[in-house]
Amino acid sequence: MQKESILLVGAGGHARACIDVIEQEDRFVIAGLVGLAREVGNRVLGYPVLGTDDDLPSLVGAYASALVVSGQIKSPDLRIRMFQMLKDCGFQLPCIISPRAYVSRHASLGEGTIVMHGAVVNAGASIGSNCIVNSHALIEHDVKVGDHCHISTAAILNGDVWVGAGSFVGSNACVRQGLRIGERCMVKMGEKVIADLEAHAEDASAGYSE
Ligand SMILES: CC(C)(COP(=O)(O)OP(=O)(O)OC[C@H]1O[C@@H](n2cnc3c(N)ncnc32)[C@H](O)[C@@H]1OP(=O)(O)O)[C@@H](O)C(=O)NCCC(=O)NCCS
Repeated sequence: MQKESILLVGAGGHARACIDVIEQEDRFVIAGLVGLAREVGNRVLGYPVLGTDDDLPSLVGAYASALVVSGQIKSPDLRIRMFQMLKDCGFQLPCIISPRAYVSRHASLGEGTIVMHGAVVNAGASIGSNCIVNSHALIEHDVKVGDHCHISTAAILNGDVWVGAGSFVGSNACVRQGLRIGERCMVKMGEKVIADLEAHAEDASAGYSE
């Protein structure tokens, strides 16, 4: 069966990690990337940077599926903007799951979310749209992660944790079971979270989608 093509939006370090996962999943052919004007014509792990954001409306005719592959640490805004742009253009945003990850059949993932090598998403967990579940992250049973979140490498969300939309959980951070992390929060690398975190005041309106 012929594989569908996918367009990747972003051309940095996280894009390279995503390429490796997409190649291993072997469900899509990577058509190329969309990057900054100065990156157009470059190659990323052999794939061409075909254009910039401005070219997305014309690319949707050639490629039905796309994925946001820019990274996210201090702000989710770039990834939110790109995700919205892809939706507005009419792209489909598939979930990508590394064959080296484990996602329970009793868990759910939103559109445009990637689960990277070695991650575990356990029974009853639900991850929103446009999220990164990075390498070796552990999402325990019944955790709820809102849209546009990045759960970094080897971070642990214990059972029943709730993470609001647009939040970042740093590498090797650990969140005690049952806690609530508000929208647009930043959990630092290595932090042990033992109490609820208030939503970041800048924009607590980004909704959590069930
Ligand atoms: C929280 C974070 C964003 C701060 O980065 P920054 O704004 O560049 O800040 P700095 O590194 O200059 O550190 C600022 C202060 O916070 C402290 N700090 C930084 N990271 C910290 C951490 N993880 N835990 C505790 N303190 C930390 C620094 O020691 C410094 O303290 P000082 O002012 O007393 O010297 C960053 O440390 C972090 O956690 N980044 C995420 C890394 C990560 O998980 N990447 C995953 C990619 S998959």
